[in-house]
Amino acid sequence: MIADSAGGQARGASTAPLRIGIAGLGTVGAGLVKLLRGNETIVAARAGRPITITAVAARDRTRDRGVDLSGLTWHDDAAALATDPDVDVVVELIGGAEGVARRLVTTALEAGRPVVTANKALIAVHGAELAALAERAGVPLMFEAAVAGGIPAIKTVREGLAADRLTRVGGILNGTCNYIMTAMRESGRPFADVLAEAQALGYAEADPSTDVDGIDAAHKLAILAGLAFGRPVAFASVHVEGIRGIDALDLDFARALGYRIKLLGLARRRDDGVEARVHPCLVPEKAPIAQVDGVFNAVVVEGAFVGRLMLEGRGAGEGPTATAVAADLIDVARGSAVPVWGRSADGLTQIEALPRTAFHEEYYLRLNVHDRPGVIADVTAVLRDHGVSLRSMLQHGRADAVPQDGTAGDPSVPLVLVTHRTRESAMMEALGRIAALSAVIGTPAMIRIDPG
Ligand SMILES: NC(=O)c1ccc[n+]([C@@H]2O[C@H](COP(=O)([O-])OP(=O)(O)OC[C@H]3O[C@@H](n4cnc5c(N)ncnc54)[C@H](OP(=O)(O)O)[C@@H]3O)[C@@H](O)[C@H]2O)c1
Repeated sequence: MIADSAGGQARGASTAPLRIGIAGLGTVGAGLVKLLRGNETIVAARAGRPITITAVAARDRTRDRGVDLSGLTWHDDAAALATDPDVDVVVELIGGAEGVARRLVTTALEAGRPVVTANKALIAVHGAELAALAERAGVPLMFEAAVAGGIPAIKTVREGLAADRLTRVGGILNGTCNYIMTAMRESGRPFADVLAEAQALGYAEADPSTDVDGIDAAHKLAILAGLAFGRPVAFASVHVEGIRGIDALDLDFARALGYRIKLLGLARRRDDGVEARVHPCLVPEKAPIAQVDGVFNAVVVEGAFVGRLMLEGRGAGEGPTATAVAADLIDVARGSAVPVWGRSADGLTQIEALPRTAFHEEYYLRLNVHDRPGVIADVTAVLRDHGVSLRSMLQHGRADAVPQDGTAGDPSVPLVLVTHRTRESAMMEALGRIAALSAVIGTPAMIRIDPG
C-alpha cells in the first residue's frame, strides 16, 4: 500500500462514505453508534472519508438503546446485513462462537464484504477458517476490540512488533477477575461475597462462569498467541483454570511472601512448541503487572529485539471497546489491512499448545494439616522423592489453629511451601501423594509463580 500526502489515504482508495451495518446494539454496538456520531469529524478526517451507519440488527426492535436509529434499515435477521446492498462493511457485535454471529461473519466474507468484529470467542475458536475465507475473498477481517478492549493489543503485536521474533505474550486479560481478586486482597472477603458485589456493580454477568472460570481470558490469549507466533493456536489445547478456588487466605500468604495473585494469560514460544495457558499466578508485588488493579487489563509482550513492553488500560466497557472497533473501521476506510494472523493464511495450520505436564515453574502450595509432630517431614519427604526442592516455608502455629469440628482436639493449621522451578508433571505426582497423607486435610492449593 502506498500512502499519498493527503491524510495517508491509500492511493486509489475511495473517498465515498464507507457504509456500515451493525449487528448487535448492546454495550458495544450502542457505544459504537455514539462514538461515530460524537466524533464524526475526527473519524472522517482520519479515515479520509465519512463513515456512515446505514443498517442495524438486534433482537428487540422496541428496546430503547439511548441512540437514535431513525432512518436506518432494521434487519430482524442479522445475517441479512451480509447481503444488504447498502452495506460496505459488516460490524458484528452480537457475540458467541456459533449461531447468528458465525453465520453472519461467514456469509459476509463469502460475499466479499469486509468484517469488523469484537467477538473473541468466534476468532479464538474459528479464526483459522475465517482467515482463510477472508483471504480467499481478498477482504479484511478485523478484531482489535476482541482483545483487551481499549488497549490496542492486536495492532501492537501484529503490526508494531511485526519485525521481531516474539517469545512471550499475555497478561491480565479479564477485568472482572482482576476486580474480584483486587477486592478480595484489599478487603479480606471471600470470593462469593466479592463476586456478588461485582454483579451488583455491573462488573460481572449474572452468569459469571465465562469470566471467573478463565474462558474469556483464554479466548483472548489464544488470539494473542496466534498473532505473536504467526499461527493460530487450537483453542481446545489452551490450559484454563479460573479463580473460584482462590481463598482469601492465599492472598494473605502471598502478601506475606512478597507477592500478589493475578489471573494471568501466558503464552510462550519454546524450542519444543508453544505454551498457552490461563491460571492464577503469584507475581512479585513490585512487578509492574502486580500494580494493575481493579477492572484494568495489561498486555505484556516480549521479543528478542524489542525486549519487554506492557500496555495497560480498560479492557471492556462501551467507550474503550467502541474505540477499538472504530479504529478497525478507519483502517478499512483507508484501504489498509494486514493478513488476519499477520501472514498469509495459505497453508497456515493450527498448532496445539503444550500440555500442562510440560510446564516448568516455581509453585506455591498451601496444605491444611493436622498439627502433629512429623507432618512437615512427611510432606518434604514426598517432595524430595519427586525431585522438588523447597525455597521457603511458612507455618502458622497453634495460636492460629482451626479445629475442624469446631470443638477441641487435633486442630488443623495451614502449611505453605514455595518450591524452586520444577516440572509440573513432578509436582502433580507429588501433590497426589501429599493429598493422600493422613495428616493432610482436604485438597492442597497449588498456584504457579510467575516472575511478572
Ligand atoms: N462489553 C464489552 O465491554 C466488550 C468488550 C470487548 C469485546 N466485547 C465483545 O463484543 C460483543 C458484544 O458484546 P456486548 O457486551 O455489546 O453484548 P450485549 O450488550 O449483550 O449486546 C449483544 C447484542 O446482540 C444482540 N443479539 C443477540 N442475539 C441476537 C440475534 N440472534 N440476532 C440479532 N441480534 C442479537 C442483542 O440484541 P438485543 O439488544 O435486542 O437483545 C444485543 O443488542 C461480544 O462478542 C463481546 O465478547 C464486549
